[in-house]
Amino acid sequence: MAQIFPKWWNKTPALALVGTLVGGGGGAFALYYWASPWNTDVGYAPRQPIPYSHKLHAGEMGMDCRYCHSYVERGPHSGVPSTAVCMNCHQQVKKDSEKLQALRDSWEGGNGTKSVAWVKIHKTPDFAYFNHSAHVAVGVGENRAAVGCETCHGRIDQMEVVAQNQPLSMSWCLDCHGNPAPNLRPVDQVTAMGWKGDLSWNEKATRIAKTLNPPGSLTRVAQYNEKGELELHATAGCTGCHR
Ligand code: HEC
Ligand code: HEC
Ligand code: HEC
Ligand code: HEC
Ligand code: HEC
Repeated sequence: MAQIFPKWWNKTPALALVGTLVGGGGGAFALYYWASPWNTDVGYAPRQPIPYSHKLHAGEMGMDCRYCHSYVERGPHSGVPSTAVCMNCHQQVKKDSEKLQALRDSWEGGNGTKSVAWVKIHKTPDFAYFNHSAHVAVGVGENRAAVGCETCHGRIDQMEVVAQNQPLSMSWCLDCHGNPAPNLRPVDQVTAMGWKGDLSWNEKATRIAKTLNPPGSLTRVAQYNEKGELELHATAGCTGCHR
């Protein structure tokens, strides 16, 4: 991964953020400037080589996201399914459909080694590190929770064509990292669509959030301990995401 920040940056964030908390002024301006949500692509929905519908497969047919996006819990990328995954059904179902021509081309042309040229929709720049597996399961033991696919991608089960639902800007990341509790759900609901927490879950989520330490979280940068002393936390810095 490209290192765009020199070593001295490691200290700068803590200072800038402390400035924001304690002094306001310059620090606040700097953070506002850095975190402003420019160049977002909400609504970006490119034309795909096959008119594949999430509304049909994930919505009406109720297929779990992980059937196709099988790496989402294991690594940084969810991945888009290989032709073989589609062929589990489409060797029988609608096997002569015109809409599946590009699928058949990729299957026959390369014996399954050639993939369909899906157009990538969601993209964070190389200098910002994002990892799915770190989000779809957070916390340990009793305090396990998840950020649902829906929170970051919207109601995919209702999309005929996938469109980007959130800005993926730095301020978007930081908004949640600063207050993750309302965005947590039980691990077994990670792919559920339309899920809502009840009162007892909301209380639990607030407790769980206190055990988490996502990078850039303002509330975690500087905290008063029991003795009333201000403590600084190193992981709060920029290098959590800019490695
Ligand atoms: C039958 C397989 C299948 C299932 C089930 C499925 N997807 Fe997909 N998904 C795809 C394919 C193929 C693409 C690439 C084409 C497209 O964007 O529509 C894709 C694309 C996406 C993208 C955009 C990827 C990008 O390029 O940024 C997101 C986000 C996504 N899926 C989320 C989900 C979620 C959330 C669920 C569960 C509610 C789900 N998918 C269920 C096959 C599937
Ligand atoms: C679990 C089985 C299953 C899997 C896996 C599956 N599909 Fe489907 N697909 C279906 C069914 C069922 C239909 C609806 C057929 C009908 O309308 O009668 C369908 C319909 C379609 C259609 C519309 C075809 C038409 O002529 O109307 C397209 C396009 C499509 N699927 C693409 C894909 C792609 C691409 C993948 C892999 C990412 C995939 N499907 C994976 C079961 C599946
Ligand atoms: C905390 C927010 C967040 C959550 C939760 C999340 N995603 Fe993503 N997703 C992203 C971001 C950001 C990207 C762009 C990543 C990149 O550029 O590397 C992305 C990209 C994708 C892609 C495109 C391929 C890839 O991996 O880059 C797919 C498919 C996808 N997500 C599916 C899912 C599914 C399925 C779930 C739930 C099991 C999920 N996502 C949960 C934020 C999220
Ligand atoms: C909706 C909430 C939410 C959004 C949006 C979100 N995150 Fe997170 N992120 C979390 C939570 C919760 C954790 C877990 C913290 C922990 O386990 O202590 C986390 C942890 C992380 C970590 C630390 C885990 C690791 O792999 O080192 C990184 C890095 C990270 N997020 C990057 C990002 C980036 C980059 C974005 C924006 C593109 C983003 N996050 C958007 C909620 C979110
Ligand atoms: C939670 C993850 C996260 C943390 C923490 C974080 N950033 Fe970022 N940063 C991002 C993401 C994601 C982008 C890309 C945003 C986009 O593409 O719109 C970004 C973009 C940037 C950019 C480039 C803006 C541009 O021109 O595109 C700069 C500079 C930057 N961050 C500085 C910082 C500094 C300084 C800190 C510490 C105060 C910091 N970041 C902390 C996620 C993070």
